[in-house]
Amino acid sequence: MSRKPIIAANWKMNVTPSEAVTYLDSFLGTFKEAVPVDIVIGASFVTLPKAAELIGPNPAVSVAAQNMSHEASGAFTGETSAAMLNDVGVDYVILGHSERRSLYGECDSVINKKVHATLAAGMKPILCIGESLEEREGGKLESVLSEQLEGSLADVSAEQMADIVIAYEPVWAIGTGVTATSEQAQDTQKFVRSVLEKLFGGDVAGATRIQYGGSVKPGNAGELIGQPDIDGFLVGGAALDPTSFAEIVSAGIAG
Ligand code: PGA
Repeated sequence: MSRKPIIAANWKMNVTPSEAVTYLDSFLGTFKEAVPVDIVIGASFVTLPKAAELIGPNPAVSVAAQNMSHEASGAFTGETSAAMLNDVGVDYVILGHSERRSLYGECDSVINKKVHATLAAGMKPILCIGESLEEREGGKLESVLSEQLEGSLADVSAEQMADIVIAYEPVWAIGTGVTATSEQAQDTQKFVRSVLEKLFGGDVAGATRIQYGGSVKPGNAGELIGQPDIDGFLVGGAALDPTSFAEIVSAGIAG
């Protein structure tokens, strides 16, 4: 089954609205027309409106938030709702990133509520999963990933899976400069697809896009995208420079 690759920048807590103008001026100069990959820019809450305005109705590029509240509205100081994100033109919401899990205590049951709230608002979750080095070395890779998928995707239907992207990001490869080898990434993503098959059946598993994330750079993107179960990337550090992110996207288009 052919899956359209999806390559997303995760700017994290970087790129102010003014800096987004400079970045997107350069990046959008390269990507104005539809290309055979979906490109996503994941900006902070305050940068999102500016990013969405600059990108506009672009056939290649859309906008992602990096988090969202599962509550609809009300007394939740500091939180941002699905309706607010919808209102500024957000298409995707990155959920369950390892930094949200480890630094802000997000667990699978909360992430699951966010997945449902995102879908209910007509946006698409990019659901992040991944193991720590200790878990991998302790033989827990498969049980950790299965648990994250089952918990975060509880009560999601096979039909809803058409709007969900999975991002496999080994925690030990995020921001460390250490990339999983293409063999490690492929083996693990094949396993992730097998879990999706158990949960939702072969058709859904075959159609779901699974990104790899963790120190993706222009120099390794080509080899990684050549793997059969790698359907794109979630890119942190290397996506802070528009030229290097454009090179990664180009590797995805070529791959
Ligand atoms: P990195 O981050 O590319 O800087 O490793 C990836 C991510 O956290 O999504």
